[in-house]
Amino acid sequence: MNDIVSAILTAVWVFIPAMVPNSAAALFGGGTPIDLGRTWNGHRILGDGKTWRGLFGGGLSGVVIGMVQMAVSLPFDPQGLWGFGSFFGALPLLFLLSFGALMGDILGSLIKRRLGLKRGARAPILDQYDFVIGAFLLVIPLQWGWFKSVYLGGYGVYGLLFLLALIPVLHRSVNIAGYKLGIKKEPW
Ligand code: CTP
Ligand code: MG
Repeated sequence: MNDIVSAILTAVWVFIPAMVPNSAAALFGGGTPIDLGRTWNGHRILGDGKTWRGLFGGGLSGVVIGMVQMAVSLPFDPQGLWGFGSFFGALPLLFLLSFGALMGDILGSLIKRRLGLKRGARAPILDQYDFVIGAFLLVIPLQWGWFKSVYLGGYGVYGLLFLLALIPVLHRSVNIAGYKLGIKKEPW
């Protein structure tokens, strides 16, 4: 029982560097769009909702949060840093989680624009999971050993399932909060 709980907590904890960048991008974003305003088949390539400032501000926020998480884990778990592994070993992992999440978000917008959906239009599943797909697409091939030990080894699969179930709930709550605070234009 205890092992399942700890596998679930670890699965969520180590995924925080992938969960932060989207919200941080909404905070720091704005300015020059990544697609520089260009269109493809009459629709924007990505749209004004994907900016360079959002990409780098959001991406670096995820990395910094991950480093803070490792620092607070140090006294409790000096060897494993609560699922991250060694500090320098985990640095590439933080970049992959964080920028992978934003790559997924960009890919999501690319798909939305190809479907003719305007910036901010609702796209169920894509809106909630694009960042997860992006992060996993980078982490699974490039940090396979880490992914296997956290999300597949022992009770890791339960952690993975819990994380995947938690994400739409978190996504919805954070977006409603962002909307009410005036940071986001839509509550989704
Ligand atoms: N944002 C940004 N740069 C990014 C990602 C996000 O500037 N790379 C900011 C934008 O201000 C964006 C907000 O974060 O409006 C919310 O992000 P998101 O919901 O992903 O964008 P949408 O505006 O809904 O656009 P899309 O329809 O393309 O998802
Ligand atoms: Mg949106």
